[in-house]
Amino acid sequence: MIIQPRVRGFICLTSHPEGTAEHVKQQVAYVKSKGKIENGPKKVLVIGASTGFGLASRITAAFGSDAATIGVFFEKPAAPGKPGTAGWYNSAAFEQQATEAGLYAKSINGDAFSDEVKKQAIALIKQDLGQVDLVVYSLASPRRTHPKTGVAHASVLKPISQPFTNKTVDFHAGVISDISIQPVESEDDIDNTIAVMGGEDWKFWIEELKAANVLADGVKTVAYSYIGPELTYPIYRNGTIGKAKDDLEATVPVLNDLLADLNGVSYVSVNKALVTQSSSAIPVVPLYISLLYKVMKEKGIHEGTIEQIQRLFAERLYTGAAPALDDKGRIRVDDLEMREDVQAEVAKLWEKATTENLEEISDIAGYRDEFFHLFGFNFSNVDYEADTNEVVEVPSIK
Ligand code: NAI
Ligand code: NA
Repeated sequence: MIIQPRVRGFICLTSHPEGTAEHVKQQVAYVKSKGKIENGPKKVLVIGASTGFGLASRITAAFGSDAATIGVFFEKPAAPGKPGTAGWYNSAAFEQQATEAGLYAKSINGDAFSDEVKKQAIALIKQDLGQVDLVVYSLASPRRTHPKTGVAHASVLKPISQPFTNKTVDFHAGVISDISIQPVESEDDIDNTIAVMGGEDWKFWIEELKAANVLADGVKTVAYSYIGPELTYPIYRNGTIGKAKDDLEATVPVLNDLLADLNGVSYVSVNKALVTQSSSAIPVVPLYISLLYKVMKEKGIHEGTIEQIQRLFAERLYTGAAPALDDKGRIRVDDLEMREDVQAEVAKLWEKATTENLEEISDIAGYRDEFFHLFGFNFSNVDYEADTNEVVEVPSIK
């Protein structure tokens, strides 16, 4: 079928198999261009491996240090006449490119929050790898069914004590407007968001992997967090999602205790704001990202997900020494985003930004382009008028 983008709000309903493969190929090429990561991971489990930071982690491990990877994700396969999700195609392309390079790569498509998928992952590690030396936890989800209570928790993106009003952008239309977001109505909103995006499931994974004896001596585990500028604090870091990130970060010492007898260690890495399927759903953030991209590109310090994660592995996690941590015990690869000169310029542009000057003062064009790249569109070397086979298998998934 001929597959073109079909956009509804902040999501794109279609994905392109050749375009997503091109996107994966470019990320692989970037990691290779940076050279081998000495003493990098060798056997890796990535939870949330199909898009965004998790996919970048899988690519960096595989092509940066020849790691065998098992990827866990929740994606929809293609059916005749209906394209699969971007993460499905990404994973198909990743497995194909990894296998061609002689690297082991297998995937599990299912609910990572469930006990069953954890058991499947353990069985696959036992069967093929014995143990893993790195576990990347990179889930972003709007909901989680709790495996012990059966309760279905839905996360919300809300401020906590008072309404928040600020600018936001419809990045497709290029229109800036004011948005007011009402605060949580009860503690339940906070608790539910923590249940979905906090650290409990990461802990369940590590507990179960450890109990099954599939974690290698010296194992590392890393999860991803965000802080960002003060202007997004009410909706992000001081909002419901920020409470979940506090909980995720507070899980680090718990996991360090759990991993101590394996000489293992856990980290949270605070990453840069980037265009992903998850971040495009957060109000206010896309406008901030378009201004940030403009400033960082002008300064020559822009990074995408793959540049961020390659740097995390090469310059933080696998240098041979313990990584520098901030006063809250976190790795920071948002250091360039948070540089004072960058933030001062973004803040100035934020005040000025209107629908009329948006194209000129922001990188809204770059935002849009990257958004379409997430779904395999807007690559100049892909023919979007051509008939393409929408049914693509992820080789390891039967
Ligand atoms: P994403 O939406 O690109 O990736 C989410 C991944 O989770 C996908 O692989 C998806 O298949 C998987 N997933 C979702 N629900 C699942 C389930 N029930 N079972 C199995 N897999 C499931 O998101 P992104 O942006 O890469 O986020 C990953 C982490 O990075 C999150 O913790 C996020 O908060 C964090 N982060 C994101 C930033 C951003 O600007 N995008 C900045 C800093 C941190
Ligand atoms: Na991810």
